[in-house]
Amino acid sequence: MPATIVVGGFWGDEGKGKIISYIAHSDKPKIIARGGVGPNAGHTVEVEGKKFGVRMLPSGFVYRDARLLIGAGVLVDPNVFLREIELVRDYDIVGRVGLDYRCAIIEEKHVIEDRGDSHLKGKIGTTGTGCGPANVDRVRRKAKQAKDVPELKDFLTDVPLEINTALDEGSFVLIEGTQGFGLSLYYGTYPYVTSKDTTASSIAADVGVGPTRIDDVIVVFKSFPTRVGGGPFPTEIPQDEAEKLGIVEYGTVTGRRRRIGLWDGKMARYAVMINSATQVAVTGIDKLDRECYGVKEWDKLSKKAKEFIERVEEDVKVPVTLISTGPELHQIIDLRREKL
Ligand code: GTP
Ligand code: IMP
Ligand code: MG
Repeated sequence: MPATIVVGGFWGDEGKGKIISYIAHSDKPKIIARGGVGPNAGHTVEVEGKKFGVRMLPSGFVYRDARLLIGAGVLVDPNVFLREIELVRDYDIVGRVGLDYRCAIIEEKHVIEDRGDSHLKGKIGTTGTGCGPANVDRVRRKAKQAKDVPELKDFLTDVPLEINTALDEGSFVLIEGTQGFGLSLYYGTYPYVTSKDTTASSIAADVGVGPTRIDDVIVVFKSFPTRVGGGPFPTEIPQDEAEKLGIVEYGTVTGRRRRIGLWDGKMARYAVMINSATQVAVTGIDKLDRECYGVKEWDKLSKKAKEFIERVEEDVKVPVTLISTGPELHQIIDLRREKL
């Protein structure tokens, strides 16, 4: 499977960071490339007792042998990017990270506008990271590009050229999406969405790969969907009910409390359709049944957990190949060899 895209199926925060970092360790990609909107996303990666929340770097950074790329479609905040490289310096980042010279730049004025705008901050509940206003400037063809920023010059590259050359050689390339299906500008719960489409086709375009080169699309769902910010959430449950189930989550970027809901099979099926998913990953099975925490084999899952996964497959009509049983990289059941 030379090119695989991983995207979110609900409203972001499905655990893509966890799934991507696991696939990176197990499948050893030559390149891990990040698409998506920009630093509004926070992917959490937990490995060897350490926890990282990455907003600009690909979450596969923990796999040390991959080239790490940020596609032209992604908005770059140079401050966030440079700080993050420092934060994860133990992973030999400098030298293997590159960003496309055409990435558009988030400037201070974009952040100020995002945080001060009553529609964006007040009604939509944006992350306040400047992404929406920067995309507006990009569409107006006024935004700066990465090649215009001297502090980024050592990192500039042609991302599509690197990726397509690797694919020509038969190497495996892992492409990561951010946010989730429900936040897509086109297909999500407009106007309570992010500033771009978030489905697999757009993620491929972000990194400069055409649809015929994508072999697998993995959509990640969490057993209990979450949402931060405003907007409809059909299966939402009250916070006190979520607390009784032991589910309390806070956003990686903004620290806001996440709204919690129950499994939504209808939305999941629609997300699988528009993403043309070939596989599904389910995270947070330990939240459904504590007994399943850290389990690594299908046979050791409880009846309740197995029934839930079977229900997911009935809903989405593609195989569930990865089942995450905890936040740590290795807390996972990998069924890909059995099912594909
Ligand atoms: P965005 O790119 O911002 O959409 O984020 P993401 O999809 O990478 O997810 P994020 O890391 O923001 O949130 C997922 C949270 O769930 C993190 O705190 C993870 O550590 C945690 N997590 C991931 N998988 C599991 C799991 O199987 N069980 C439990 N208990 N937590 C998990
Ligand atoms: P923006 O992308 O910052 O403009 O925010 C628009 C909407 O998308 C708000 O509801 C945010 O909470 C949501 N959002 C953007 N990025 C993420 C993410 O990575 N995880 C979860 N929600 C997000
Ligand atoms: Mg997140």
